[in-house]
Amino acid sequence: MPLDLPNRPRRNRQSAAIRDAVRETSLHAGQLIYPLFLHTDDADTPLDALPGQTRWGVKGLVEHLRHCHDDLGLDKFVLFPKIESNLKSRTGDEAFNPDGLIPRAIRQIKKSLPGVCVITDVALDPYNRDGHDGLVTDAGTIDNDATVEVLCKQALCHADAGADIVAPSDMMDGRVGAIRAALDGQSHTNVSIMAYTAKYASAFYGPFRGALDSAPKTAGNDRKIPSDKSTYQMDPANVREALRETSLDEAEGADIVMVKPAGPYLDVVRAVREHTTLPVAAYQVSGEYLMLKAAAQSGWLDERATVMESLLGIRRAGADMILTYFAPEVASWLA
Ligand code: PBG
Repeated sequence: MPLDLPNRPRRNRQSAAIRDAVRETSLHAGQLIYPLFLHTDDADTPLDALPGQTRWGVKGLVEHLRHCHDDLGLDKFVLFPKIESNLKSRTGDEAFNPDGLIPRAIRQIKKSLPGVCVITDVALDPYNRDGHDGLVTDAGTIDNDATVEVLCKQALCHADAGADIVAPSDMMDGRVGAIRAALDGQSHTNVSIMAYTAKYASAFYGPFRGALDSAPKTAGNDRKIPSDKSTYQMDPANVREALRETSLDEAEGADIVMVKPAGPYLDVVRAVREHTTLPVAAYQVSGEYLMLKAAAQSGWLDERATVMESLLGIRRAGADMILTYFAPEVASWLA
């Protein structure tokens, strides 16, 4: 005798055809943003500490983006520069050098691939010899308002070079509004702001800082430098604070808000999703990438299945778009 069950949820799982029809979450290449590292060298250098990722020369970068765009259907890229140590300073002036690495790369990309969306990181850590996203005072604190002034120059420099979206990742107060005003003041009303709205002080950024040599420089410094970013990045324990940041960034004119990291913060993605009508991005950061990559390389996890599941989970939590180093693999799996 069958059990007397009016509801058998398995009926909706019994064939691929039905599963396709009842699936609630989708993932496609247009939802992916691919973060890339670049440097001034001509050589493209594979990163030992981030297997599968490369620090590109500008020429190699453009060719790689052409492949990602033409063959894989990716069209959104975010650029992270490794700046030579002799160009780093206490004030981070290289961040707004119109002939600097990022503006040069933007111009090359835009010339060769006019259809791609170029997103730039706005923060001082690659340019600041103290390794912080903001300027470090003599007293060893991060100077919010002085930093915002430099960030505005940096954002303008990127917009002048042709960036489509600037993405402030620095977590200074008031920077979204100040950058919006600076952009509009120079008629860059079409340049969007993707705000790193809820960016946590996370240990999962470790591999990224190694790739860019951008970690806080406490050793051998003539001043006392904070060893972590906890006076500006958020406490991993907090979620209401993410909503406060979301309200502020929304009021200041953000076009897209972001939660970062993604996987360990899915509840934050969900909360932010329910708090705003703005599009929500989530960043699967270097440490999340490396956990999956390392386990796959050891033969412990099935890379394709676990990566797809991790991204679907981020989408299900409420992210409209995902920044992920797996973007090219995922795009080829989806094709
Ligand atoms: C710097 C920045 C960081 C990341 C993106 N932009 C590092 C940091 O805040 O220390 C991390 C990305 C990753 O780990 O993949 N403003």
